Amino acid sequence: MLKKLAIFASGSGSNAENIYAYFSGHSEVEVVFFCTNKQDAFIVKRAEKLNIPVIIITKTELNNFDRLYKKLQNAKIDFIILAGFLLKLPAIMVKKYQNRILNIHPSLLPKYGGRGMYGDKVHEAVLANKEIESGISIHFVNQNYDEGKLILQKTCSVSVDETLETLTSKIQQLEQKYFPPTIEKAIKNYKP
Ligand code: GRF
Repeated sequence: MLKKLAIFASGSGSNAENIYAYFSGHSEVEVVFFCTNKQDAFIVKRAEKLNIPVIIITKTELNNFDRLYKKLQNAKIDFIILAGFLLKLPAIMVKKYQNRILNIHPSLLPKYGGRGMYGDKVHEAVLANKEIESGISIHFVNQNYDEGKLILQKTCSVSVDETLETLTSKIQQLEQKYFPPTIEKAIKNYKP
């Protein structure tokens, strides 16, 4: 049976598009819709271009969850992928989709994770601390920001002349390469 995914994102949606492309024509996995809390986020434009439905939710709608849950149920969503989604998920949602929500974080967790650590802030902190490596973490989502069980980490070097732009680009390359197959594997390995 085809496993159905919803991808939640608050920003550009480059990961969302890459995941969508990876699974298009896939025999076991289908991306059914995108969901965002930001009406003006670039992911909305991407969804239009890809001709994939995008649901726009407010923080209140997310936290009340009932209506969103109905939408997820109606669409028979099996897994939820967070790709730069900045709102904290309500506990009830995490419980209903336990081990079926994956997040990607652009650092080697537990370093540079947690509330307020997103986007450029992560890489700026890595550079300010003169780290010699950084990377990505893909993990299951639990009640706390960036603390769920790790599924995969991949590293990249941080050179002495690294800039925000070059580090961002290294991290994006890791995300594009590893996030889709890691999702695929987690779906395959899932045991209810
Ligand atoms: C990625 O760096 C991801 O690790 C983080 O948010 C960013 C989303 O980028 N959680 P994009 O919207 O997929 O371009």
